[in-house]
Amino acid sequence: MQLTLQSTNDMNWSTLNERTYAPYSGKAKACVVESRSGKLFAGVRVENISYPITIPAVQAACTICLSEKEIPAKLYLEDDGLNQLHFWKKEFNLKIVKTDSLPELPVEDLYHNLDADLGITNRLKELLNQAVIPNSDFPVSALLFTSDGYLEGVNVEVSDWSKGLCAERVVLSKAIAAGVSEFTRLEIHAKKGEISSPCGACRQVIAEFLPYHDIILHHADGTSSEHLTLDLLPFNFKSSSLKKINV
Ligand code: THU
Repeated sequence: MQLTLQSTNDMNWSTLNERTYAPYSGKAKACVVESRSGKLFAGVRVENISYPITIPAVQAACTICLSEKEIPAKLYLEDDGLNQLHFWKKEFNLKIVKTDSLPELPVEDLYHNLDADLGITNRLKELLNQAVIPNSDFPVSALLFTSDGYLEGVNVEVSDWSKGLCAERVVLSKAIAAGVSEFTRLEIHAKKGEISSPCGACRQVIAEFLPYHDIILHHADGTSSEHLTLDLLPFNFKSSSLKKINV
């Protein structure tokens, strides 16, 4: 069963911009990607206390689109100052549409509820088929839970290895762009890893959004292990002097 999050038909650029996670710069950045088949995917900038790990809005929108098995074709933006615009424009030969009116985003069927017969592990395994992995052939899936259900993510790779995103960061960007920022836990699976475990960059991003939360790792041998997210990033980087704005 799918739960409807909310109608987004009353959205405009400022309401989408408000979803930006920019506690360090205070600068809102958002865009919308339209896929070849006409589906729309919003992306917002997701900053990190370690600035270089920040996910630009265009990277978020394109990887979210790709993670849903769609190919980016058009990019709607309000102004040109978007990071990585040039790379993604070239990568998918995107048509850039600068517009004051936000394209009408569909009512989002973001949340899923687990089919009791299927279970979490099987859904994670099924989801691996959606991974976009031309470079690694290493699929990873992630389920991000909220009190209303869960969102799905897979890893996405493009021609420049550094511009792809891990499954964990795809699902987090998808949630933030949809205006969801309260999470309960994260579950991940990498069937080709000896163990399933988030990379260092993902741990840094996870620490920012799910600092004292459960993370459940579903390993290739069928076992799983449960951890507190911050236990995966001991002695983590922090400084109150970096945060400028309360979000
Ligand atoms: N990957 C993830 O999706 N999550 C992780 O935490 C580790 C790495 C992906 C990224 C890339 O597509 C592939 O695995 C190899 O690095």
